[in-house]
Amino acid sequence: MRARYYRLIVTGLTARAPAKLNLQLSVGPPRPDGYHDLATVFHAVSLYDEVTVRPAGRVTVRVEGEGAGEVPAGRGNLAVQAANALRKAAGIKDGAEISIAKRIPVAAGLAGGSADAAATLVACNRLWRAGLGLAELSELAARVGSDVPFSLVGGTAVGLGRGEQLSQALVSGRYHWVLAVADAGLSTADVYAECDRLRAAGLRPAVGDGSAHGGARRSGKRTVSRDLLAALRAGDAAAVGAQLSNDLQPAAVSLRPQLRRTLEAGKEHGALGTIVSGSGPTCGFLARSEEHALGLAASLAGAGVCRQVARVSGPVPGATLTAQSAGRGGAP
Ligand code: C5P
Repeated sequence: MRARYYRLIVTGLTARAPAKLNLQLSVGPPRPDGYHDLATVFHAVSLYDEVTVRPAGRVTVRVEGEGAGEVPAGRGNLAVQAANALRKAAGIKDGAEISIAKRIPVAAGLAGGSADAAATLVACNRLWRAGLGLAELSELAARVGSDVPFSLVGGTAVGLGRGEQLSQALVSGRYHWVLAVADAGLSTADVYAECDRLRAAGLRPAVGDGSAHGGARRSGKRTVSRDLLAALRAGDAAAVGAQLSNDLQPAAVSLRPQLRRTLEAGKEHGALGTIVSGSGPTCGFLARSEEHALGLAASLAGAGVCRQVARVSGPVPGATLTAQSAGRGGAP
C-alpha cells in the first residue's frame, strides 16, 4: 500500500503578553503632535492577556473575560490595528480571527490593550509566515500605541520619547507587587490632559520631576533616576520602593480622589512603595517578599479600598507564543 502524506496546516496560534507598571514616569509638556515626551521605567508583571489567532478571510476580533464589554470590537481595537499594520507592512492578503482572553483590567493604566496588540503581532507574524524580526515588529508596534513596543519585549526597560524608544535595564531579583484595581477605568488621554491642566493652573511644577533625578538617560529635560536604576541593579527592593515616582499620579488622583485612600492603605500595611500605575487608576504596592504580598493583598481587600486585588511579580518576558494547533491540510 502506498503511503499518503498530508501537509499539516496551522489552525490556531496563541500568544500571551504581560501587564506593565511604570516604576518612574516623568512627563514633559505637550509636544506639537499632542504627545508628551517621557522618561519612564517600564516593568512587566505576571498578569497576562492571551490572544489566539486562526486563519480567516478577513480580520475580526472577539473579546472575553475581565471587562470584555468595554473593549472596542472593531477597528478601534488595538489588536485589530496591530494585525492590519502587519498585513500592510508585509503585503499579506489573508485575515485572522482574533480571540482575546482578557485578564488585564481595561483602562487601568496596566497597558492591557498594548499587551493584546503585542501578542497579536507575535501570533500573526507566525500565522502568516510574515517573517518580521523584532526591530520591524517594534516599529509597527510604536505606530499602534506608545506602550506596545514595551509589551513586545517586556522585562524592565527605560522608555524615552513617547515611551517607544526602549533600552533594557539591568535588574537583579524578583519584585513582588500587589495591584489594587479600581471600580472603573480612566482614559489615558484624559489623565494627560488633567496633568497639563494642573500644571497650567500652577498646581504642579511646570515640568516633570526629572530635575530630582541624577540624569542617567535623558528625554528632553526628563531623566530616568540613577538611584532607581542602581536599586534595580542591586536588587534592593526597599530602595526601589523609595524611588517610585509618577508625574501622572496627581492628575489621576485629581480625577479619582478616592485613590488617595487606596494609596494610604498600602502605606499603612507596610508596602515598600506605593504608586499609581501609568495613567491609573490601578495602584501598585511593592511588597518585601512573596509572603508579605499575600498579607498585603488580604489587608487591602479587607480595607475595601478597591474592587479587586491581584498579586503579581516582575520582571517577566514580553509577548510570547504559548501554543499552536495544527490540522491536516490537503495532500501535497
Ligand atoms: O500612544 P497611545 O495611543 O497609547 O496614547 C494614548 C493617549 O495618551 C494619546 O492620545 C495621548 O493623549 C496620551 N499620551 C501622551 N503622551 C505619551 C503617550 C500617550 O500624551 N507619551
